[in-house]
Amino acid sequence: MILPFRRLQALFVLALTFLVPGVVAKPIKVGFAQTGAESAWRTANTQSMKSEAEKRGIELKFADGQGKQENQIRAIRSFIAQRVDAIVLAPIVETGWDPVLREAKRAGIPVVLTDRTIQTADESLYACFIGSDFYEEGRMAADWLAKKTGGKGSIVELQGTPGSAPANERRRAFADALTKHPGLKIIDSQSGDFRRSGGKEVMEAFLKKHGRAITVVYAHNDDMALGAVQAIQEAGRKPGTDIIIVSIDAIKEAIQAVVDGKINCTVECNPLFGPKVYDTVTRLLAGEKVERKSFNKDELFDSTNAAAVVASRQY
Ligand code: AHR
Repeated sequence: MILPFRRLQALFVLALTFLVPGVVAKPIKVGFAQTGAESAWRTANTQSMKSEAEKRGIELKFADGQGKQENQIRAIRSFIAQRVDAIVLAPIVETGWDPVLREAKRAGIPVVLTDRTIQTADESLYACFIGSDFYEEGRMAADWLAKKTGGKGSIVELQGTPGSAPANERRRAFADALTKHPGLKIIDSQSGDFRRSGGKEVMEAFLKKHGRAITVVYAHNDDMALGAVQAIQEAGRKPGTDIIIVSIDAIKEAIQAVVDGKINCTVECNPLFGPKVYDTVTRLLAGEKVERKSFNKDELFDSTNAAAVVASRQY
């Protein structure tokens, strides 16, 4: 009785060994709804997702949301219709996702949130989140600034896309941290939509309105900071010297600007998480448990360490 059972077991294992490669050989189909192409960070993130999919033989259906939530929602519906195995979403804003995520859930398609979080009363609508801790980035930027200025300054803030998690969290963290430093005040704050042109335009307006009262720029990303650098130079002032600039992302161009003394500090927000996303998708599809929220580790760059990393910076 025992032997035939063991044999049966062995046969089952053998059958699996032959069957599984067949199943695995069928490429995993992933739909990725990206926010758009607003910044150098975004370009690097898209590149990481595309190149890693290619490396792993994953069939990637890529949709550029062009900065609009309705485009991303349409893309998710099309991924559902195409019966993808998993959906990866970088949500442009935090709210308004429940109905479409419910549709994905009903279709049995797991959704992995990347880069940005959402606000929902139903946490079961997505499998997990992979990205940076935006609040922590804002806190690091504010603490650095407080040390650098001795807690004194008049700040203009260049906000990211209204309603997006990074704009909300970086703003909140910075404001929270400033409560410990009453000499540091935000005198104006406006959105540049995470774009270089937006940062330049808003900074030009700030300079016209506040003139020499501005001593600090806090930009929610490097592209806007680099736009502000241009505006300050065109106004005949020295960015990094006359006006301190603190920013977030740590793209290569901003680290170079730190080396050149035009930006004073940039807090990293690492966009190269394609490998982590596909590892997670593969594990989810294999029925494994994954971490609910996984945060990337981000560093801070200023005049003390920028020169050492700029040459090897990948994005
Ligand atoms: O969500 C991440 C942010 O979005 C990055 O800081 C910014 O550059 C991008 O556009």
